[in-house]
Amino acid sequence: MRFSIYRYNPEADERPRMQAYDIALEPTDVMLLDALVRIKAHDDSLAFRRSCREGVCGSDAMNINGKNGLACITRLGDLKEPIELRPLPGQPVVRDLIVDMSQFFKQYHSVQPYLVNEEAPPEKERLQSPEDREELNGLYECILCACCSTACPSFWWNPDKFVGPAGLLQAYRFIADTRDQATNQRLDNLEDPYRLFRCHSIMNCVDVCPKGLNPTRAIGKIKDLLVKRTV
Ligand code: SF4
Ligand code: SF4
Ligand code: FES
Repeated sequence: MRFSIYRYNPEADERPRMQAYDIALEPTDVMLLDALVRIKAHDDSLAFRRSCREGVCGSDAMNINGKNGLACITRLGDLKEPIELRPLPGQPVVRDLIVDMSQFFKQYHSVQPYLVNEEAPPEKERLQSPEDREELNGLYECILCACCSTACPSFWWNPDKFVGPAGLLQAYRFIADTRDQATNQRLDNLEDPYRLFRCHSIMNCVDVCPKGLNPTRAIGKIKDLLVKRTV
């Protein structure tokens, strides 16, 4: 199969370039990550992240033929050749397909992505009704791959000010949790022209999420709660 892969080592190269690879694959090479591992066997200078190879760790997110996704769950048979691979857009490149995720995680941490409850914990666990627990479906499954935030134009332009779809999905995951007591502080933290309201509902995030999550809907729910708070 034919590939065209972004290559850049900021410490050695003047500028990035696309490198062509023509690789004979084995019948067991079904997913794009299999092909990348095969390519690396021929050229070990190629750098990319991967770990679980099951769509769980989120580390092999990259731009595949123009769309963000995870290499390990992308079927080679579904891709048009030459398969063009680039790093996630809008982030500083560490090397080849590896980007610096610091800004992404900074925004994620800025929403306090953990349960806040000042009451002493009960002996066993903090219970929820099945209906309350249901509210968290579609929110807790995020694997922090950054496919969504790095597909979002608002995040490209203001990565230091706009939380981005992944962080906002997590913000809502705790706002929606009946066991959490910090709803008001969480809403205060997002009531800002940039942090939340830079989302213009373009829905790129929904289009690329490999887990089928819907950050736009979560963002809309936070906006609704803020409006309700002021009326
Ligand atoms: S819907 Fe909002 S968060 Fe999602 S890509 Fe568009 S602007 Fe970004
Ligand atoms: S919402 Fe989806 S695309 Fe965004 S970080 Fe989570 S799993 Fe990845
Ligand atoms: S290697 Fe873990 S999600 Fe692809």
